Amino acid sequence: MSGIYDEPELYELACAYRDIPAEVTALLAWCASYFTGGAGEAGAGDGPGVSSALELAAGPAEHARELARRGLRATTLDLSPAMCAYAAAQAKAAGIDLRVVEADMRDFAIAGPGDTRAAFDLAITMLNSACHLFTLDDLVRHLIAVRASLVPGGLYIVELAHPADFFDRVPRTSSEWTVDAPGVRAEVRWGGRTDRIDPVTQVTREHMTITATSADGTIRTVSDVVPNRFWTLTEFTAAAELANARTAAAGAPPGSLDLVATYGDFDEGTPLDAPSAWRMILILRRS
Ligand SMILES: C[S@@+](CC[C@H](N)C(=O)[O-])C[C@H]1O[C@@H](n2cnc3c(N)ncnc32)[C@H](O)[C@@H]1O
Repeated sequence: MSGIYDEPELYELACAYRDIPAEVTALLAWCASYFTGGAGEAGAGDGPGVSSALELAAGPAEHARELARRGLRATTLDLSPAMCAYAAAQAKAAGIDLRVVEADMRDFAIAGPGDTRAAFDLAITMLNSACHLFTLDDLVRHLIAVRASLVPGGLYIVELAHPADFFDRVPRTSSEWTVDAPGVRAEVRWGGRTDRIDPVTQVTREHMTITATSADGTIRTVSDVVPNRFWTLTEFTAAAELANARTAAAGAPPGSLDLVATYGDFDEGTPLDAPSAWRMILILRRS
């Protein structure tokens, strides 16, 4: 039986409410503010200062493709063969140079551009895909691998669900929405209050359905149950400290991964604790 990650086209359609170019513009603005690798200091120069990017749990790799379109050398990683094939095909069709790696984000070692280890200026994990790291050990191992993939001064930008979605009486995101794309309308239901978070594991088995109706009346549907681990800010930063300690104990080259900023949306002006914040975006930097 196929699941949602075996249906990249439907997945991308369901997520078409996002403004990917605007999100990538925000990512590059944060790079201009916080990246200290290469020759520059944070905020130095006019551009973002980064020239290579690694998108983790990339799925269709929309952000990586946009970064590549803007001149960065982009690599993507995903566990799903269908997602990897789709990302590669989309990049090829658009004439974009994209390296696609099928691997597990819990433990990976990818050579950067030029085949050097630890050579990415920027790593990103978008749309709460870190929810697929189910345990503390998963998250710590993931952060160790990310740290090893970054140049000193390199950034890891992670977009997570906002904690208010779990702790407030009224969630900040909707679990039902409709997308109108050229020649097709998609009705999406993903999670929602009927899916209960397991209070011990912090994993929610989210029931989702996408129904796509084409202009000629053809209907395609996918339904799945997708496990989603909820991470708090304090858990995430504690996991980074644990990853740093394990890295140092293993005698790896020096350099820790530290939280340098948080945001509540893809812009400079929405703090994480703003009432309008609806994402939890964390920026970590490798020293
Ligand atoms: C919600 S989708 C997000 C895709 C993409 N980040 C985006 O913004 O559209 C989650 C992706 O994580 C991938 N994934 C799940 N577990 C993974 C793992 N352990 N390692 C790598 N990728 C994983 C799935 O195959 C899927 O493509």
